[in-house]
Formats: sequence, C-alpha cells, structure tokens
Amino acid sequence: MNIDKILAEMSLEEKASLCSGEGFWHTKSVERLDIQKIMMSDGPHGLRKVNEERDCVTDESIEAVCFPTASALACSFDRDLIEKLGKALGDECQAEGVAVILGPGANIKRSPLCGRNFEYFSEDPYLSTEMASAYIKGVQSRGVGTSLKHFALNNQEYRGMSVSAEVDERTLREIYLASFEGAVKNAKPWTVMCSYNRVNGVHSSENPKLLSNILRDEWEYKGLVVSDWGAVDNRVNGIKAGLDLEMPSSLGKNDKFIVEAVRLGKLDIKDVDKCVRRILELIDKYEDGKKSNIIWDKEKHNKLAAEIESECMVLLKNEGNILPLDRSKKIAFIGRFAESPRYQGGGSSHINSYKVTSALEAVKDICKVTYAEGYNTVEDETDDKLLSEAVQAAKECEIAVLFVGLPDLFESEGYDRSHLRLPECQIELIERVSEVNENTVVVLHNGSAVEMPFADNVKGILEAYLGGQAVGQAEVNILFGKKNPSGKLAETFPRKLSDNPSYLNFPGEGDRVRYQEGIFVGYRYYDKKEIEPLYPFGYGLSYTTFEYKDIDISKSEMNDDEEVTVTVTVKNTGKIKGKEIVQLYVNDEQSSVIRPIKELKGFEKVMLNPGEEKKVAFVLDKRSFAYYNTDISDWYTEYGKYNIFVGSSSRDIRLKTCVYVAPTNKIRVEYTLNSTGGDVMSTEMGKELFKEFLKEVNAGINSGSDKSEGELSMYNELPLRAMVSFSDNANITREKLSQFVKRLNIMINSDLY
Ligand code: BGC
Repeated sequence: MNIDKILAEMSLEEKASLCSGEGFWHTKSVERLDIQKIMMSDGPHGLRKVNEERDCVTDESIEAVCFPTASALACSFDRDLIEKLGKALGDECQAEGVAVILGPGANIKRSPLCGRNFEYFSEDPYLSTEMASAYIKGVQSRGVGTSLKHFALNNQEYRGMSVSAEVDERTLREIYLASFEGAVKNAKPWTVMCSYNRVNGVHSSENPKLLSNILRDEWEYKGLVVSDWGAVDNRVNGIKAGLDLEMPSSLGKNDKFIVEAVRLGKLDIKDVDKCVRRILELIDKYEDGKKSNIIWDKEKHNKLAAEIESECMVLLKNEGNILPLDRSKKIAFIGRFAESPRYQGGGSSHINSYKVTSALEAVKDICKVTYAEGYNTVEDETDDKLLSEAVQAAKECEIAVLFVGLPDLFESEGYDRSHLRLPECQIELIERVSEVNENTVVVLHNGSAVEMPFADNVKGILEAYLGGQAVGQAEVNILFGKKNPSGKLAETFPRKLSDNPSYLNFPGEGDRVRYQEGIFVGYRYYDKKEIEPLYPFGYGLSYTTFEYKDIDISKSEMNDDEEVTVTVTVKNTGKIKGKEIVQLYVNDEQSSVIRPIKELKGFEKVMLNPGEEKKVAFVLDKRSFAYYNTDISDWYTEYGKYNIFVGSSSRDIRLKTCVYVAPTNKIRVEYTLNSTGGDVMSTEMGKELFKEFLKEVNAGINSGSDKSEGELSMYNELPLRAMVSFSDNANITREKLSQFVKRLNIMINSDLY
C-alpha cells in the first residue's frame, strides 16, 4: 500500500470517516482507494468472533477454544508457555480472518474486588508486563495484531466509564504504567486500547499525557491507539491527543466533528493525517501477513488449553501429602463445579466454547469416584437435600474432593465484587464435609482472591482460577499426580478484605477514586506493614522439593549504565520431576525516598528431574534498581547498596547477595535558605562544608573546634535561614548563609560541569 499516495488522494471527509469503525468489529473500507476493512475480535483467552456480516454486539460468537484467563495464566510465570498460547491464538485469527485480537489486559490488580481481575495478570507490574509481552509476541509472530488494554488505570468496574483515577506521578509510573511499559517497548503491540476511565481528571481517550507524551514520545510507540468500545467523549480532543481509531462506529456522528473542527481551524489536519496514517499502516501490516492456508485444529488447541492450565494451577496446601490422590482409595467428587465447572468470566471476553471438560468427566479415565452436587449456583441458598447428600457421600468415602468457587453472578465484567467470600452455601458445605471427612481437598474456581475461613480445616487446597474449557482435565492431571503442580500466585491472598491496601479507598466516592496507598500495592504493602497474608505473592507448592544454593553475582559494584548477572543453582531434592519458579527481588537498603521492602525484578521457571540441578541466571539493569524520581521526571538510581533476594516466594527468600550501584547521571541538587541542616549534611561533602561554615562563624566565639555529632544533629531539622534567629551569634547573618548556600551549590554540583 502506498500510504503517502493514498493520504494525498483522500478527502477530509474520507479521512475523518476512516478514524472510526464500521459496525462493532471492523474498520471502514474505502472502495475508491482500494482500502480494505479489517476485523477486530475480542479475546484475550480465546477467539470471540461474532458473525462477520451482521457485525453486531449481541450475536453469539463462533465456537472456539476457551483458554485459561489471565489471572490463571500469570501463575505459570512462564513466558514460553504464554507465547505458545499467543501463537495458537494468532493461528486462530489467521484462519478466521481476524486482524487484531483485543487483548491482553495488563491492568494492575489494585483491589481483589475489581470485577475484571480475572482478565488481568497480576498485582506486580514486572510480572504483568512480562506476561503481556509474551502474549503479544506469540500472537504477532503469526501476522496478527494485538490490542494491549486498557491503557490505563482501569482498576474497577464501579463507575468504570466515568471515574477519575487520582494517582500521584510516582505511583502512576512505578506501578500502573510500568505494567504496560515493558510490553509496549519489548513486544510492540500493533494496537493499544485506551481505557474507559479518566486519569487525574482527563479521559484516557483524549489524554495527551498518556497517549502522546508517554506512550509515543517516551516509549517510542509506533502503533495505533484504539478507543475502548464507547470510551470516546470529545472526538476532536481525542485526535489531538493521538487516539487514532474510535470503536465501535459512531454512525458518522463523531466524524462530522472532526471535519468541522478542521474547517474552523480548531484542529490541525496534520493531526488527522497522523491518525489516518496509523490506521492505514495497521491495515497494511495485516494484509501483508495474511495467510490463507491456516487450518485451525480445535482438538489440538483444546489439548493445549489443558496443558496450559496444568502449568497454572497453584497448590496452596497439601497437609500430609494428601495429594496426589491415591486412586485405590474411595474418593468422592463433591460440588457442582466438578460436573459443570466455572472456567471463564463474564463480559466481552466470554468465549463460546466448543466443548468443556469437567473433572467428573476427565476422572473416568483414572478411577471411579462418587459424585454429589452439594450446592446450586443460581442463588446463594443452602439446598438441604443437596447438602445432606454431599455429607453422606463424604462420610462414605476416604477422600472428599470439593469443587467450589465463585458462580458467574459473583464476578464479572460490568460490576465489582462486594466482598471476598465464597457463597455462604458453599462455605457451609465445606464446613460440613470437612467435619465428617478428615481427608478433604478443596479445588477453587474463581477469577480473583477469595477469603478462606476453611483453610485450617481441610488438608488440601488447589487454586484452579478460571482455567478454561479443559479445566477438568487439568485438575484431574494434577489431583492424581499425572502432572506436578508448578503455578505460583501472581497476587496476594489476604486473610481478610480489610487487609488489602486499597480497602479505605475502593471504589472511591462518586466519580473520583484516590489511589492513596500509592506504590504500596499488593505484596509491596503487606511486606511493609508486616501483615501476614493468607497466601503470599509468588507462593505455590509442588509434589517435589527444591534446594537453592550457590548465589553468585558478576560484580559487586556497578554503574547504572551497566548490567549485573546474578546466578543461583536450584536442585530438585525430591523423587519426581517438577518445575520451580525462581524469583528475584531487589531491595534498596538505604533510600532517600520511601520504597518497598522488595520488588520483583526477575523470575525463571526451571524444569528439573529428581536429583537434577540447574544454574539459573538473571540479568539486572539500571531499571531494576531505579525508582521514578518526580524531581527530574525520570527513573533514577540512588548511589548505594542494593540487596538481592532470591527465593521460592515473596515470603520464602532462600538466598541473598548485594551490589553497590552508582548513578552515571547525577542529579543537580539545589540548596536554598530553606534547606535544613540535615539536607545539607546528607552527603559527606555537604557535611564537611557545613562544619567548615560553623567553624568560620564561630571563630573567636568559642574555641572554633569541630562540632560533635550530637551537636551537629541539632541542625538536622532546622532550615538554614532559622539559624539567624536561633543563635545569639551575631556572625550568623542571612547574607553569610546565602553565600554559604551559593558555595555549597557550586561545590556539590561541581562534577556536573
Ligand atoms: C471492553 C473491552 C473489549 C471491548 C470490545 C469493552 O467493553 O472493555 O475489553 O475489548 O468492549 O468488546
């Protein structure tokens, strides 16, 4: 496609018209210029392609394969696995003529109550952005685009289309944008979808700071920005800010505003051209990589869905090695989700699964189990008949496996959860069953964290999340030891909702939600507050055991423009093969700003045979140690010692090392008369200069000797200017202090010149 030529030939009306979609899922075609329309379809954990001709929102989508949702996927901590999923989805899109799959979602799980948490990866930006990158790389390697969404701060459903997320700059950068940043820079999604909400008062769909300054100028994003469906408020401001494509169609209504604004000189045609160019580039890219010979094998992808879910499930408890189950024992499967599992969330990501495998069906290949339904999912009312049948079944067997979780009504796109509990009828069922059977195992189906009042009363807990259509197969594989569990939590499970850092400010008041917990999201908060979670971030058990040893670091000192490599050896000390997720966290030992106790900066998943050991390497760069410094509007690494923790979870650190990092670009420091003695003495040079100054003004008054440390600390909180009135020394004048500040600024910043 000769884009320059097409742009030159297009009328203003044609340009404006191309800036919005046709129907729900297509861009527009312009026959005169041979511009083809392309189709977008929802995902992200399967293909939700609706009838192409009718192109409306309500139609049932094609039969497809539902993979585990993002909340499960992230627990795999497995970049290759997610990339493999991406490739499969890319093939499906090619086979179905879909140019862009609308995902992945990289929003941070700020509160476990957010109705869309099942579509998001993690509470940690590094894990989230790594998972999103792998997904994007996988899909796009097949010549199909992705839409990294929802940019940004779409962390709740309550007033989700109008609420303003009020967040300070450092938190924005370190947590909420960082979750997108790596994926944008490393995986280069063809499209980014703006969020519905406002960010600090400005709609994401017309937010120049987000869409232009950060996304395009700072992160050098070259792709297209599409609106979330219906997120546009002021289309003209959107064009100015860099929102290229409005979806779905506004039936030409918003296009007219673009034309009018250009005619009135209120909108520069160059801004419209930029958007049109990016839309044409997207169409071109898809047309270029279009393949006509792709065959989509549903059965193969169904198997892949089971394989992926087996890598995602998290074993939370395994007292007395109740798992893997001994198939020679009398086993009961109890709970409706054994027969009819909840395996995906509601809303735009809902897949029309061509088949679903329940645990009850999958277990037939292994052994005979008895089944009792236990509860119903339509309403949260105990059904006495179902309950007593379940208790009876539990009594009559040696092991009771309970399949429970959140029914559809409890969690969906469109609304937030109001609490973290399972339905009362299920809690009662778990209590009653565990009373009569001491070998009770709970298998959970939920999109986000739940409270577990039953945790101490059962022997096993397996978190399946929303595991896709093959969830039952994966569950049986894990329960009976065909697969060794290897997932770890990508989010903290608190003991109770009120422990969560956003608790006091979620979902906000009216159209404002203040992110007052700042950077202390998820484990960053629980660590700092020394709150014991129910299950911590990064936690998950295996049927084998791993030993960590021999931590090594390639250098003990580095400049922040260098890299450092940390290696550890991990050994499988158990009897069966298994995978371990090795996690690396960084801690800034002494910082002038408030920082978390530790932050995830590396992870690797390693497969080990019994007795086998492998060396695992992590490369850390400048960013691994930096915080976002709002004074210089950039990432900054302070000089100092950084501890490096390597462990099996955020609360199970096995090895430690450290490195001294020096910033290559020093920040200019500007002292004033309002700087305190403590500010001045925070560097060695400043302290020496201050001591000299004191000696000078004290000369002849006392012996002129050096002040003791104790005497010096009296100046810590005192602004320099106040020394005039807090001293009866006539030598200390404002003028002298000004001269001192001047000299101090020159000396301190001397190596910057
Ligand atoms: C959702 C998006 C989705 C779009 C298209 C919106 O309501 O927020 O995630 O991709 O609809 O269905």
